[in-house]
Amino acid sequence: MKTDTILITGALGQIGSELAEKLKTIYGKNNVIISDIRDPKDVNYDGIYEVIDVLDVERIKEVIHKHNVKTVYHLAALLSGTAEKNPMFGWKLNMDTLLTFLELAKDKIIDKIFWPSSIGVFGPDTPKDNTPQNPIQTPSTVYGISKLSGEYWCKWYQQNHNVDVRSVRFPGLISWKTPAGGGTTDYAVDIYYKAIENKKYTCFLEENTYLPMLYMDDAIDAILKLMATDNNELNEFKSYNLGGLSFSPKELSIEIKKHIPEFEISYETDFRQAIADSWPSSIDDTEAKTDWGFEPKNSIEKMTEIMLTNLKIKLNK
Ligand code: SER
Repeated sequence: MKTDTILITGALGQIGSELAEKLKTIYGKNNVIISDIRDPKDVNYDGIYEVIDVLDVERIKEVIHKHNVKTVYHLAALLSGTAEKNPMFGWKLNMDTLLTFLELAKDKIIDKIFWPSSIGVFGPDTPKDNTPQNPIQTPSTVYGISKLSGEYWCKWYQQNHNVDVRSVRFPGLISWKTPAGGGTTDYAVDIYYKAIENKKYTCFLEENTYLPMLYMDDAIDAILKLMATDNNELNEFKSYNLGGLSFSPKELSIEIKKHIPEFEISYETDFRQAIADSWPSSIDDTEAKTDWGFEPKNSIEKMTEIMLTNLKIKLNK
């Protein structure tokens, strides 16, 4: 009998590249199938890699069948900045592909799905500080509209077809292994690269724009904890708020200056400022803490130390 395996879509992205390594240590190299659209000859990965365009349903079914995939971490998506520039494709990629996996779970071809939502589901009418789990949600971006609609679809499939789908609303994620791509919170990753390489950074958000953020280790830990929770302990579907940190570009630059005193930040805002202004500054994640033990461990100080230490090695500086 073939063993059940795990499939990660968008696995070469910021979350996927770290999640894959973690899942391999838990389930073994041969039980974690990673997929993305990149040509295999450009992929340096120790394990099983399959090319999947997530819009290609037949190809998804083929890979699922070939490896007896039972759990899917569906990470492939366009982030807020990119989706805003390419709205129709953003909507198609983010929505159609989620529905593909929900249908596969409805048809019992797969058993379980993890799908990330985002702070993008909140909008200008949502209370900004300590944003609760169920406030008014009026997303003003294509990305946010797709994520909020996705949440409703997940809930519908769970209620009507008993689909086991789990989700969190990620804030900005900060990591050094793989850069983020196309998001509004990306400045908080770029700033570390530029601080090391050029000792200066021009930020596309204003200095006092506070956004919720989370260090990647805490994000991965959250995914693993939520997925390991017994289904009976989770009530009706919800995409859990995750907080963690809240800081502004100015605060982050002050933190970096403690390590690189010559570092200078300047500001030149672009279209992403309006996106950031529509999002919360900080998040109330009490439900994630009480329902499945979300426990972020990294402060801005600790994260900055880890980021600078590892990026210096990565960038040979
Ligand atoms: N990091 C994402 C973005 O900025 C938010 O989920 O688009």
